[in-house]
Amino acid sequence: MHNLEREVDDMPDADTSETPSFPFPRTCPFSPPAEYARLRPVEPMSEVVLQNGRTAWLATRHEDVRALLSHPATSSNRAHPSFPATVADIGVFAQKGFLLSMDAPDHALHRRMVTSEFTANRIRRLRPRIQEIVDECVTGILERGAGRPVDLVQELSLPVPSLAICELLGVPYDTRSVFQKHTEVLLDRASTPADRQHAFGALREFLGELVVSKETEPDDALVSRLVVKYREAGVYDRELITGFAVLLLVAGHETTANMISLGVAALLREPAKLARITEDPSLTPGAVEEILRYFSIVDYPTARVALEDIEVGGVTVRAGEGFIASAAAANHDGQVFPDPGELDIGRNTSGHVAFGFGVHACLGQNLARAELEIVYDTLFRRIPKLRLVSPPEEIPFKDATVFGIHRLEVTW
Ligand code: HEM
Repeated sequence: MHNLEREVDDMPDADTSETPSFPFPRTCPFSPPAEYARLRPVEPMSEVVLQNGRTAWLATRHEDVRALLSHPATSSNRAHPSFPATVADIGVFAQKGFLLSMDAPDHALHRRMVTSEFTANRIRRLRPRIQEIVDECVTGILERGAGRPVDLVQELSLPVPSLAICELLGVPYDTRSVFQKHTEVLLDRASTPADRQHAFGALREFLGELVVSKETEPDDALVSRLVVKYREAGVYDRELITGFAVLLLVAGHETTANMISLGVAALLREPAKLARITEDPSLTPGAVEEILRYFSIVDYPTARVALEDIEVGGVTVRAGEGFIASAAAANHDGQVFPDPGELDIGRNTSGHVAFGFGVHACLGQNLARAELEIVYDTLFRRIPKLRLVSPPEEIPFKDATVFGIHRLEVTW
C-alpha cells in the first residue's frame, strides 16, 4: 500500500469494496470482534475503510501495537486530515486542552502539569474516601431489599467514579446528570456531528464557569491547583484549563463506570473465579488487570498518524498515513496471552495495553485501578448472594467509542 490518503483523494473510483469497514462491531459483550483473530495471523497490518471513506492501517499484533504507540514520529492530533475517522467528525475531539490530541512538545509540557495529581502515592491517599463512596452506594443497594432488581449501572457503576472525579476536580456532584448525559452523547457512535458539537459546547460552558469561579475563589481541589500552577508558570490560559477539565471529567467517569459493570457481569458469570477473589482478596489486583485486558474497552481510540515512514509488521506505514493500534486485538494476541478469550484471573497480564502505551498512556490508570479493586472487593463481600437477573449474553451493550453496557440488572 502506498500513500492511502492520496490514493483515496485522487482516485475516487479506487475499489475498496473488498476492504473491511472499521470499527468492527462487537457481537458479544464478552469478546472482541472476531475479525481481529482472523486478520492477525494472515495480515497483521491490514487495510480498513473508515467512516469517511478513507482507508487506514489496522494493527492487530501485540508487538506491532506497542511499537506503533511508542513510536516518536506519530501524531495524536484528531484534527489531522489523515487521523483515522472512527466517527465521521473525529476532529471535534481536538479540543483545546485535550491532552489526548496534543503532540510533542506541548503534550509533555501540559502532561507534566498534572502527573503529580495521579501518582500511585497520591491515589493511595484517596482510597479511604473511595471506600466510603463505595460503601454508601452498596448500603443504598442493600436498603432496596432482597429479591428486587436493581440497575447496578445507576446505583454503583456511574456514581462511584463520578463522585470520585468530581471531588478530585472540585466539580459539584449535583451537576452529574448534566455531564453524564453529555458524555454519553460524545461517545455514542450514533450521535450526529451537531449532537456532539452541542455536548462539547455545553460541557465547555459549564466547566468554563467553574474555572472562572476558581480564579477568584480557589479551593484545594485539582482545577484550582491547575489555575495556580499555570499562573505561577506564567502560561495561564482559561480556555486550555477548561478543556483540560472537560477531558478529565469525561475520561474520569465513563470508562471506569463501564469497567465496573462489565467486570461484575463477568465475575457473576463465572462463580468459581469470583469465589477465588472473595476467599482471597489479595488476588483482586491481579483480577482487575485481567478484567481490563479481557474487555479492553478503549479499543480503537489508540489511533495515530505516521509523521515519517514506519516499518512495522512487514509493511511500511508511509508518512501521512493513519493507523489504528487496536488495544483489544493486542490484548487478545494468543502469542502473548495464551487462550486469550479465557478470563484467567491468575494469569500474567504484564504488558497489556488496556490503558494504552507510550506517552499518551492513561493518566488516570492508578485512580481507575483503585476504584475497580475497592468496588469488586466491597460489593461481593457485602452482597455475597448477588446474581444477574438475565442471562449474561443478553446484557444490552453500547455501540460507543468506549465499549460498555447500558444497564445491568442484579438482585440477591
Ligand atoms: C478503566 C478505566 C480507563 C481506561 C480503560 C482508560 C483507557 C485509556 C487509554 C487506552 C488511553 C490512551 C489513549 C491514546 O493512546 O490515544 C487513555 C488516556 C487518558 N486517560 Fe484513561 N482510561 C481509564 C480511566 C481514566 C480515568 C479515571 C481518568 C481520569 C482522570 C483518565 C484520564 C485519561 C487521560 C487524561 C488520558 C490522555 C492522556 C494523554 O494523552 O497523555 N482515564 N485512557
